[in-house]
Amino acid sequence: MPRIPLAVPFWDKECEAAAIRALSSGRWVKGPEAKKFGEEFANWCGAVAAVPCHSGSAALWAAMRLLNIGPGDEVIVPGMTFIATATAVSLVGATPVFADIESDYWCICPDDAESKITEKTKAIIGVHIFGQAFSSKLRDICDNHGLWLIEDAAQAHGTTLNGVRAGAIGDVACFSFFPSKNMAVGGEGGMITTTIPDLAERMEMIVNHGRNDTLESVELGTNMRIGEVSAAIGRVQLSHIDKWVSQRRNNASHMAYTPTIRDNSEHAWHQFCVLSDNPSLLINQLDDAGIDARVHYPLPCNKHRVYSDHPQYKIDLPNCEEIAPKLVSIPVHPSLTSEDIMRINSALNLQS
Ligand SMILES: Cc1ncc(COP(=O)(O)O)c(C=O)c1O
Repeated sequence: MPRIPLAVPFWDKECEAAAIRALSSGRWVKGPEAKKFGEEFANWCGAVAAVPCHSGSAALWAAMRLLNIGPGDEVIVPGMTFIATATAVSLVGATPVFADIESDYWCICPDDAESKITEKTKAIIGVHIFGQAFSSKLRDICDNHGLWLIEDAAQAHGTTLNGVRAGAIGDVACFSFFPSKNMAVGGEGGMITTTIPDLAERMEMIVNHGRNDTLESVELGTNMRIGEVSAAIGRVQLSHIDKWVSQRRNNASHMAYTPTIRDNSEHAWHQFCVLSDNPSLLINQLDDAGIDARVHYPLPCNKHRVYSDHPQYKIDLPNCEEIAPKLVSIPVHPSLTSEDIMRINSALNLQS
C-alpha cells in the first residue's frame, strides 16, 4: 500500500515545455516570463500589481521595505505562524509584537491584536493560516488606527474573504511557491502583490536593487528576482490553481472531521488540520495506516530561541499554547483518490 504524503509536487509536459522555452530563450533572468507571471497573478487575485520574487520570505522582507518599516517600528503578527512572518519584521530592524490566535479559526485574534497597538505600531500582518481567511475586523482596526494591513498569503492561494481573493484583501500581500504550497514553481519562489497603485512601481524596484529605469539605485533593495524558468513553470501552475483549490475543497468536504470555516470566506485548504487532544496517538495511527501527518507549529513563534531577548519570550499567548501543539495536518492535496480519503477517514475514526 503506497504511503499518502502530505504534499505532492505537480508537474506535467506543459510545465516541462514552459521550462524549456525559458531555457532556450537564453534569457534566464529579467525576461518576459517573470513580467507576465506578475501580471497574470495580479489579474487572477484582483491586485493592482504583483511582482514575483525569490520566496515568500523575500516577499515579506520586501513588504517591510515597501512600507518603510524599520528600526523603532512595531508590527503585530500572530504567535502561531511559520517563523518567517515574524523574522521578516526583525530583519529590517523592527520589532514583531506577538498577538494570540482565535480559538475557532486559528488566525490572529483581532481583539488581541488591537490591544497591542502602540504609537510605534506601523502594520499588522494577518496570516491566512492553513488557507483560512483572517478576520475582516483586521481591515477596520488598521483603518481606525492608520496602520498598514499586510497579508501573509503564503498558504492562501485561492482563499477568499467577502468575495475578495487573498492578494487583494490587504494593502500588500505575500505569497510563497514553496513546493508543498497550493501552487509552485519547480524551486523556490514567491510573489508580492499590492492593492495600492502608488506602491506598484517601488514594489518592482525593491526586488531589483532599488533601481529605477535609469539604473540608479534610489532606495535600498537587493536581488530578490525570480528566474525565468521558475516564472514560466509558475504561469502554467497558475492556469491550474482554481481547479486544484476546488479539488482541495472537495477533499476537505469528505473528511471525517470538520474544522470551523469563517463566515463569508472560502478556505483554500493548504493544510487540513485536525484538533486532537492526543496528537502523538493520532499521528501514530495515521502512520500505521501509511499516511503522513505532522504538527506544523508546535512552538509559538515568541518562544523560539531566536526571540530569547524579546520581551514576549517567556509570555504565554493562551490559545497559541493550547491549540498549536494539537493541530495535526493530514493530507488534503489534489492528488488524493477517493480510496485515499477512505483510508484517511478510517484512521481518523480510530481516534478515541
Ligand atoms: C505562513 C508562511 N509565511 C511565510 C512563508 C515563507 O515562504 P518561503 O518558504 O517561500 O520563504 C511560509 C512558507 O512556508 C509560510 O507558510
